[in-house]
Amino acid sequence: MVAVAEALNRSAAVAAPLSGGARIDVRHVSHQFALRGAALPVLHDVSFTVEPGEFVALLGPSGCGKSTLLRLVAGLDTPTQGSVQADGAAITGPDPSRVVVFQDPTLYPWRTVRGNVGIGPQAQRARFAWRGGAQEEQAQRRIDAALELVGLSDFAEAFPHQLSGGMAQRVALARALVNDPALLVLDEPFGKLDSLTRIRMQGELARLWQDARFSVLLVTHDVEEALLLAARVIVFSERPARVIAEVRNDAPYPRHRDDPKLVALRREVLAQLGLDT
Ligand SMILES: Nc1ncnc2c1ncn2[C@@H]1O[C@H](COP(=O)(O)OP(=O)(O)O)[C@@H](O)[C@H]1O
Ligand SMILES: [Mg+2]
Repeated sequence: MVAVAEALNRSAAVAAPLSGGARIDVRHVSHQFALRGAALPVLHDVSFTVEPGEFVALLGPSGCGKSTLLRLVAGLDTPTQGSVQADGAAITGPDPSRVVVFQDPTLYPWRTVRGNVGIGPQAQRARFAWRGGAQEEQAQRRIDAALELVGLSDFAEAFPHQLSGGMAQRVALARALVNDPALLVLDEPFGKLDSLTRIRMQGELARLWQDARFSVLLVTHDVEEALLLAARVIVFSERPARVIAEVRNDAPYPRHRDDPKLVALRREVLAQLGLDT
């Protein structure tokens, strides 16, 4: 695993140089939508920071505003109030250094796995008008390395309809990793997977992050997942989402879900959410 991550780093000239992770500052962000002429407040004065290379989970009830917040961080929308910054600069639009993986992998059905993972490099190819040569070879090496990172080397020529749900989500992850992101934004990425695949992919994600050290912002409504993966869990209220707690989790990786420390933290977080068990 480490060797592959190094290979990915060595060929990083294709995209931005390996950054070691973006710093994200969300400052006093409030957001509302217009719904049938009335204002629908979705985020209320939300502030938090993601340190470079940190793994932060955003945990909150369904419909509280988590995806809305991620869209602001990804630059897909701008907040009604407050600011979102990456490395000190206001986020004004999407950027290849911030990659979003959604719950549905949305692969192009007519492209192979390799073709889907190669979308980022292909866009660069068009932008910088490469004509084969060293850059093209580097791009192909990066695609190979990304496929190896997610364990799909043998399926490079398969089409999406030939993949399981877990494999499709791995393709989406490889498609993100090939761009050498400074920030990986994950919106309930394992939400639709069966529980065994989910457990496996949680472990894989933790290892990928440890090797590569990009920053991660993971949205989940699963307390266990948040605690298993993140160094810090930010807990949100019901809509309009406001931060109700921040729980630091310094348990070493690899983590085990039955670790007594995680079990205690789980109880603490559930209590914050008003779910005393
Ligand atoms: N584009 C939109 N227009 C109007 N309302 C929206 C829009 N996007 C989301 N919402 C509403 O905002 C609230 C929060 O949605 P969302 O951020 O997707 O929640 P979560 O991801 O936490 O489940 C929901 O009530 C949803 O209906
Ligand atoms: Mg959502």
